[in-house]
Amino acid sequence: MQTIEKPIISEPVAHRPDPAMSDRLAQRIQSEFTDRWNKLWSGRSLVHGRNPGPNAVRLNGNDYLSLAGHPEIVRAQTEALKHDADFVIQSSAFLLGQHPVRNLERDLAGWLGKEDGLICQSGYAANLGLLQAVADEKTPIYLDTLAHMSMWEGARSARAPAYAFRHNDAAHLGRMMARHGPGIVAVDSVYSTTGALCPLADIVEVAQAHGSMILVDESHSLGTHGPGGAGLCVELGLSRHVHFISASLAKAFAGRAGYFTLPPSMRNYMLTASFPNTFSSCLLPHEIAGLSATLDVIKKSDVERERLMQISRRLRKNLSAMGYPVHQGTEQIIALESGGEPATLVLRDLLEERGVFGAVFCAPATSRNRTMVRLTLTSSLTDAEIEHVEKVALEIAPMVQPQQWPIARRHQTQHTCEA
Ligand SMILES: Cc1ncc(COP(=O)(O)O)c(C=O)c1O
Repeated sequence: MQTIEKPIISEPVAHRPDPAMSDRLAQRIQSEFTDRWNKLWSGRSLVHGRNPGPNAVRLNGNDYLSLAGHPEIVRAQTEALKHDADFVIQSSAFLLGQHPVRNLERDLAGWLGKEDGLICQSGYAANLGLLQAVADEKTPIYLDTLAHMSMWEGARSARAPAYAFRHNDAAHLGRMMARHGPGIVAVDSVYSTTGALCPLADIVEVAQAHGSMILVDESHSLGTHGPGGAGLCVELGLSRHVHFISASLAKAFAGRAGYFTLPPSMRNYMLTASFPNTFSSCLLPHEIAGLSATLDVIKKSDVERERLMQISRRLRKNLSAMGYPVHQGTEQIIALESGGEPATLVLRDLLEERGVFGAVFCAPATSRNRTMVRLTLTSSLTDAEIEHVEKVALEIAPMVQPQQWPIARRHQTQHTCEA
């Protein structure tokens, strides 16, 4: 007798409800997010506005030297892709000395005036893993108030006491170290929200005086600053005095990776103590080949670096003349810090309606009252595009009243007090 199997009829995926969240989580989402979304953001996303059309001026990326799709980089990646299958995908803790990543790690280190380093999955993983491995409960970490979140999270995962010192204030840092003892000082070379330069020489001097180690995150200066793009520690002759240099390779390198330098003697220790390096997989060979080719291209990109600096100076000067308070920074990242979230929503919409797309930075990337549209410049922006940004900024100034932004008023008060 023939048996007829009953077909298994599965419920359509769309009709299967997810299990309910716990009450605690539901309450947390309501109080931390939904109220903010409804009240401050008028029921729409503050971060995602409209889709930029083909003619939009995009000031929301970090490919500062406009290297994405560069033929030499693409050629290196596609050639290496053919051999990806020859490599074992595993944690970087297992990689042997002849793996192609070792050449890249040493080349980057030499360029930065250091001996060795570790390639990581991202700049975030680099800072987190490094601090996790070099700090502990008895090693305080002193962070600039504007230091990148990945360093704060590194302090948290090291269970290290974290002390915030006033932005770019070496004297305040010194006072904090005098009170809490030596540890590790963590700064960005160029701050990612404001484009401010860190007074590196002063920070290094005070850290040395107090016997602290120093980590400099060069994410926004690697490739763009210093001789051949080698960054600010090299430019200022500080590489020898700084213990660790880290960077995201998703900015001027336009890749998906991160890096930190380390003394060769620490390499094996780090591969057991920095959890992102131990417990997560390494990059693929074609990614490494792409980054190595990018390093070569970056070294030759003086024209692009000069262009980036020139348009940064120009846009900063002209925005300033229109009353925009951009005095917080000097480099290729320009903050339009309108203050509260509702004001930033209005600013974003006015810019986007006119084809200018920046990136909205709000809590937790900034404090709640320092929300901004961040403009990042890239070397391939044309004069016509910069002129368009300036025209739009002038046109919307009466509507957004930049002279009234809290950051402008604070600056005026400061100047009046100093006078
Ligand atoms: C200063 C700084 N450090 C680290 C990172 C993290 O880099 P990644 O995007 O490669 O994780 C960023 C990116 O936002 C950054 O601006």
